[in-house]
Amino acid sequence: VAFVLIGFMGAGKSTVAAQLAATLGGRALESDTLLEQRLGHSIAHEFQARGEVSFRASEEQVVCELLADVGPRDTVALGGGSVLSESVRTALAEHLTLLLDVDPSVAWERVQASPDGPERPLARDFDAFAALHAERRELYERLADAVLLWAESSSGSAYPVLIGRGLLQSGRERRLAEIWPLDRSRSRPFLISDQTVSTLYAQRLGEVLAEAGPIEILPGESHKTLASAEHVWSELVRTGMTRADHVVALGGGVVGDLAGFCAATYQRGVPVVHVPTTLVAQVDSAYGGKTGVDLPAAKNYIGAYHQPAAVIVDPDTLTTLPAAELAAGWVEVLKTALIAGGELWERVWSSNGCEVDARTIIDCAATKLAIVAADERDSGARQALNLGHTVGHAIETVTGYERYRHGEAVGLGLLVALRLSGAEELRAQVRDLLQARDLPVALDGVAVDVEEILAAIDRDKKRLGTGGVPFVLLSKPGEPRIGCEVSGSELRAAVTELIVS
Ligand SMILES: NC(=O)c1ccc[n+]([C@@H]2O[C@H](COP(=O)([O-])OP(=O)(O)OC[C@H]3O[C@@H](n4cnc5c(N)ncnc54)[C@H](O)[C@@H]3O)[C@@H](O)[C@H]2O)c1
Repeated sequence: VAFVLIGFMGAGKSTVAAQLAATLGGRALESDTLLEQRLGHSIAHEFQARGEVSFRASEEQVVCELLADVGPRDTVALGGGSVLSESVRTALAEHLTLLLDVDPSVAWERVQASPDGPERPLARDFDAFAALHAERRELYERLADAVLLWAESSSGSAYPVLIGRGLLQSGRERRLAEIWPLDRSRSRPFLISDQTVSTLYAQRLGEVLAEAGPIEILPGESHKTLASAEHVWSELVRTGMTRADHVVALGGGVVGDLAGFCAATYQRGVPVVHVPTTLVAQVDSAYGGKTGVDLPAAKNYIGAYHQPAAVIVDPDTLTTLPAAELAAGWVEVLKTALIAGGELWERVWSSNGCEVDARTIIDCAATKLAIVAADERDSGARQALNLGHTVGHAIETVTGYERYRHGEAVGLGLLVALRLSGAEELRAQVRDLLQARDLPVALDGVAVDVEEILAAIDRDKKRLGTGGVPFVLLSKPGEPRIGCEVSGSELRAAVTELIVS
């Protein structure tokens, strides 16, 4: 099985194919280059001299030959229009077809800036270009086994994110082993999961499963601890994991954070592949490399930045997720939409219920990856992702990590952040959205006093030196403001309101 990249012109297929091939250890091949070699001149010239029909016939022949000839773990970048051919579409079935998506205006700028940009026959007028993009996108989405996001970070690490329904489907274990992003003959996978997810999904990893079987922790936030980490480290030693091997984190954010932390620290660091199975993890926690465990006194206090080697997401695993977990995960979708604004906010705001489609998972992941790419270590823009989290984490801590799910606590934190932002209308809207999904909008019936929450906020790890805890505020969707100072009295009032309302 080869990895075949499809997508519109200007999506970056050639660049990403080269990077993916380096990760997979196979060759990077490009159909347009091969076609031009075969023709002896440029595609633009062929288009002009012989017309589109003749060009498509030559393209079909070259692409079909290429797809018949590629080896396992090779990466192929296909010309944007090559999938118009039925023979090409048939040949794709043998491979893993990955859609590299791109916004039409970004694609337009890239194409115009490329050396042959002015000559490209299908890129002469933006409106026609955008219309063609919309038309092709439908076809690409239908053909693709998964969407590929190429995650980059300022430290220079880069990794593939594959998001596709059915990637973990029962009966397709063999295929998953074939498309596994790390070379298993050199690096053995060691699976870490919680008991619930392990029972449901460990077998789906088939051949990827280490001989020793999954290392399991108990499910839930109260087990995201150093004690669980010690259990995992000990099991990795017992089962013979070496520095050449890698960890696979199969589960929600708790497993991802814990297994990522164990990977970051085991023998000073081994790679980790995330296979997230909750909404929180698929839209947020699996990306960006923050790993860690909680202390009784403070959440995520012990940890490390450790970027994944790859992330594999099957949205169909959400079908087994209990409704309350789905709702809690939806709060991270809401948070991401508030930060992103625009079309994502419109879609999330006007949605009913907590079910999200694959497109929304992809958009949330892409939003987070773009922010992390600009600021991996939380020194600037990345702090926006903490919207609602300062108070949310404090609530989780003072209630012993058992009363509220992470997403539920973040929902309450969002209400405080919007009160502090003076965004009354937006706060009311968010409150309605939470309430409509049976999510808490107040600390009902919980014996917790405001002082405890304020003390936990004060211990927040975003606090630097003796300064106050910087807050993320947001007056309008799409316009988060980081590093905001909030007075003690304003904070007390906003938290108190949550307790009494
Ligand atoms: N690292 C980051 O950037 C980041 C970002 C956001 C959240 N987080 C962390 O994520 C954690 C919360 O993650 P979570 O909400 O996924 O919790 P979780 O991992 O505890 O999962 C919730 C529950 O769902 C079960 N479960 C998981 N997948 C399932 C499936 N497909 N079907 C049935 N049951 C399933 C689990 O066993 C668990 O009981 C918190 O610790 C939070 O701090 C980290």
